[in-house]
Amino acid sequence: MKRILLVVLLVAVMAFPSMASAAVRIGVAMPTQSLQRWNQDGANMKAQLEAAGYVVDLQYANNDVALQVSQLENMILNGADILVIASIDGASLGTVLAIAKDEGIPVIAYDRLIMATDAVSYYATFDNYMVGTIQGEYLVDKLELATRTDPVNIEIVGGSADDNNARFFYQGAYDAIAPYIESGIVVVPSGQIAFESVATMEWSSERAQARMDDLIAANYSDGTPLHAVLCSNDSTALGVTNSLVNAGFEEMPYITGQDCDIANTKNILAGLQSMSIFKDTRTLASNVVSMVEAIVNGEEPPINDTETYDNGVKIVPTFLSAPVFADINNYYELLIESGYYTEEQLGL
Ligand code: BGC
Repeated sequence: MKRILLVVLLVAVMAFPSMASAAVRIGVAMPTQSLQRWNQDGANMKAQLEAAGYVVDLQYANNDVALQVSQLENMILNGADILVIASIDGASLGTVLAIAKDEGIPVIAYDRLIMATDAVSYYATFDNYMVGTIQGEYLVDKLELATRTDPVNIEIVGGSADDNNARFFYQGAYDAIAPYIESGIVVVPSGQIAFESVATMEWSSERAQARMDDLIAANYSDGTPLHAVLCSNDSTALGVTNSLVNAGFEEMPYITGQDCDIANTKNILAGLQSMSIFKDTRTLASNVVSMVEAIVNGEEPPINDTETYDNGVKIVPTFLSAPVFADINNYYELLIESGYYTEEQLGL
């Protein structure tokens, strides 16, 4: 019996040599602290991983790709057993992740897919296409596009082209409103419809605001009504809202968003933004912790999508969670009663 146990132990140590030691080290690389969500993601990951007994090396890279690469190099040097990475530019990590692969370090792509490398083992995210679908369908519903006969004007503000998610959000939203663009019920007065012409580098509020300033000057300064702005996320929605407020819009168009950031949720309460997609970062963190646990135990992590996320080299096995939308009608239940925010945080 003892001999069998010893053999089993030996086999386990040989299969997962780095994980045989007591403290398993998890490197967690986050893109930036400038956006509220990544601070929450990082804090949740650290808390949940530490509660499960892991040693966590959490780093933020200030949206600087070179800095993220050097943080990953250091994590590897410092003996990381598993890497969890929310990338800045999904296509820039090939070289450093080749080292991780050589060292036998599994890599989990967190929220954003890591592109063009076979070194990424798993991906955990929310259903990104569904995020866009919900945003688009929200506008279809609020603008009553299925039944109306008079056209509406909308503009589109997309995410950062170096983030694989941005195209999924855009495509989901576009597919929901495309029939109405084709029928002429939805008009985009700027003519800027293709992803490339609506993308916002770094998801920057300032860039979104500057572009909206230009769109207003060129298309709406004569009083042409603007019925909706389809914004991919909250940082871009914030820039758009600021631009419209500065331009003196009294009746705000419908504005979509994503993340339920505090500033944007306050804007929803103030009637300045219509909705935001709620992606509970606690759920994503616990999904990733389950993946980590499975890897450490030599088991297959929970996966529910093996088709959608092709990074150009492989289809990455993924665990998708479902997003929902928050607006003035359901925010209290979703955000306060669930314990995500306190009333004080939202100024209630
Ligand atoms: C995330 C969004 C976020 C955006 C900007 C995307 O990859 O999925 O939740 O708003 O990045 O940080």
